[in-house]
Amino acid sequence: MTTYLLALDQGTSSSRAILFDTQGRIVASAQQELPQIYPRPGWVEHDPHEIWRTQLGTARDALAKAGLKASDIRSVGITNQRETTIVWNRKTGQPIHHGIVWQDRRAEPTCQQLREAGHSDAILQKTGLRIDAYFSGTKLQWLLDHVPGARDAAERGELAFGTVDSWLIWQLTGGQRHVTDVSNASRTMLFNVHTNQWDADLLALLHIPASLMPEVLPSAANFGRTADEVLGGPITIGGVAGDQQSALFGQACFKAGMAKNTYGTGCFMLMHTGGQFQTSANGLLTTSAAQPSATPQFALEGSVFVGGAVVQWLRDGLQAIEHSGQVQQLAESVPDSGGVMLVPAFTGLGAPYWEPDARGSITGLTRGTTLAHIARAALESIAYQSAALLLAMSRDAVANGGAAVSELRVDGGACVNNLLMQFQADLLGIPVVRPACVETTALGAAYLAGLSSGAYQSTEELSSLWKAERRFVPTMDKARADELMARWERAVRQTTAP
Ligand code: G3P
Repeated sequence: MTTYLLALDQGTSSSRAILFDTQGRIVASAQQELPQIYPRPGWVEHDPHEIWRTQLGTARDALAKAGLKASDIRSVGITNQRETTIVWNRKTGQPIHHGIVWQDRRAEPTCQQLREAGHSDAILQKTGLRIDAYFSGTKLQWLLDHVPGARDAAERGELAFGTVDSWLIWQLTGGQRHVTDVSNASRTMLFNVHTNQWDADLLALLHIPASLMPEVLPSAANFGRTADEVLGGPITIGGVAGDQQSALFGQACFKAGMAKNTYGTGCFMLMHTGGQFQTSANGLLTTSAAQPSATPQFALEGSVFVGGAVVQWLRDGLQAIEHSGQVQQLAESVPDSGGVMLVPAFTGLGAPYWEPDARGSITGLTRGTTLAHIARAALESIAYQSAALLLAMSRDAVANGGAAVSELRVDGGACVNNLLMQFQADLLGIPVVRPACVETTALGAAYLAGLSSGAYQSTEELSSLWKAERRFVPTMDKARADELMARWERAVRQTTAP
């Protein structure tokens, strides 16, 4: 009986592979850094060969560490950095260019034209997205327009487009399958999230031949089998989801109103909205959740651009600490931030503010302010920004006839910081819950692979596997929390004032 699930987690800065048993326990893992390429200011690229080399290396390492072989693995799940755009030649398998990474801003002029031409509402209604260079569509258009010969080759049907999941599946299956899942497709700005199909009008608008596009499957499905030489034997690829939707799934947030926040370099917060497509009145995106079956499922998403990165800034910019781990100790050396507010709008502010030109600020300084107060304010800024997002989500949920979010499930590197998690719970006035397995992104992909391969029967079964490690219950009274949030909003207004 094969009882292991192999999750491949291809992220922006590294490729990882984690082997889980069917109880969701980690058996072995491996990780390799992914080199970043910055050809010009605002441009970010990845070499697709490096994506594949590092991902394959980690999969083999994890199997070797666990002493397992292909026949011990029931199914492979893939989760990945989203929106990153790769085009390759179907015959040779060679990419025509580096992948254009989600952070890359080069397609902004095209987006501006689309906005000015009045396409925003139609795109929002079909895709759930606001027009932005973040998504794959205009990156793909850029590649076809700028790589010599690409458009002609695309017209002849010789090229394939894919997000990172598609590229990995193409490699894993030895070029046999050109597929993606709904959650990744929903990040392209070319996908109708109501019908779960590529949208012919949007493809035409962006001058993208339909022959480039991968087949779209539910997130738990048969995505093909690994070629024998890849992992030493065939394994079915049974689950695929973009990393944030995968984390939502790994947190067992399957129902409307359940939300998770991933505390990484930035923070990504998603709230499931069930089968209901809701657009946000508060600047959030609507996206397809991971879908175990063909039925559409949705989520609202918001991101904090500078989350854990504020700690890196304390270390590298201010040189206030030597290692990121020291921040909790320094912040805990004072009882509070002494009225200091730090708004880390280093690259503007995302939802719910959407102030691209905002820049960071530190306010409330007195003669008594020390580095410890600033460190505490920096840490607290992660919680304030996340709280503003969650409050926006709850407002949207209530406006759409749902209930406000009643608990927040957390994961990502900074969720180990107890001070931060407690402050988050205090600000929100709801429990913040850290699961026993914080590798929820990879776990989500493993769960999806386990569902399609029969290791699990239902999402109810997965819900029963999800276990809390610690619940942070609010201890601050509501009036104080409201006052702090009001202070934060004042600090944001000062930051964004002309
Ligand atoms: O939308 C971008 C997101 O999917 C990237 O996630 O964890 O690779 O930075 P990560």
